Amino acid sequence: MLNWAELEHTCRSCQKCALAETRHNVVFGEGNREAEVMFIGEGPGEQEDLTGRPFVGRAGQFLDEMLSIIDLDRSQYFIGNMVKCRPPQNRDPLNVEMDACIGYLRNQVALIRPKIIVCLGRVAAIRLIREDFKITKEHGLWFEKAGTWMMAMYHPSALLRDPRKRPEAFEDLKTLQAKIREVCTHTYGQNVL
Ligand code: URA
Repeated sequence: MLNWAELEHTCRSCQKCALAETRHNVVFGEGNREAEVMFIGEGPGEQEDLTGRPFVGRAGQFLDEMLSIIDLDRSQYFIGNMVKCRPPQNRDPLNVEMDACIGYLRNQVALIRPKIIVCLGRVAAIRLIREDFKITKEHGLWFEKAGTWMMAMYHPSALLRDPRKRPEAFEDLKTLQAKIREVCTHTYGQNVL
């Protein structure tokens, strides 16, 4: 296992898959390195690729708004993606790309040791929770894996595309807040709902 500095350095010079050829920046992930909650999306989009920061485009702004409902902000959680470099035209990351990148994510999880991991969208859920995960049926449900609580929510881009899904996402947020209250010791996510 690498420490944060070694890991970040390794990621920034990574050439393990073809995404390295088209990226502008490696999106390493950011937030609280002692967080109890971690969010994992699919892969960087255009804004993320240009800035090197996760979830800063439209979907990211929408996610920030959603999480503010349960009083979570980026100083409290860590947020990253299944792949750290942008897939061209925002296509889903390929298995071969996720295979190349997952060791970095595992290393980040090992360093942070979060109590809760929230998958944003089906790509992360399929890879991290279960191969045949069905996001429409299983979003908001908890799965315990090696002592870590995992759940998936709809990806914020899906919620932007289809506002009819938002009430379900709101329920998932409440579920997340309840789990935070149950298993986390930091004093966050305690207000509002
Ligand atoms: N969508 C993702 O899945 N990740 C990002 O970082 C931005 C948009």
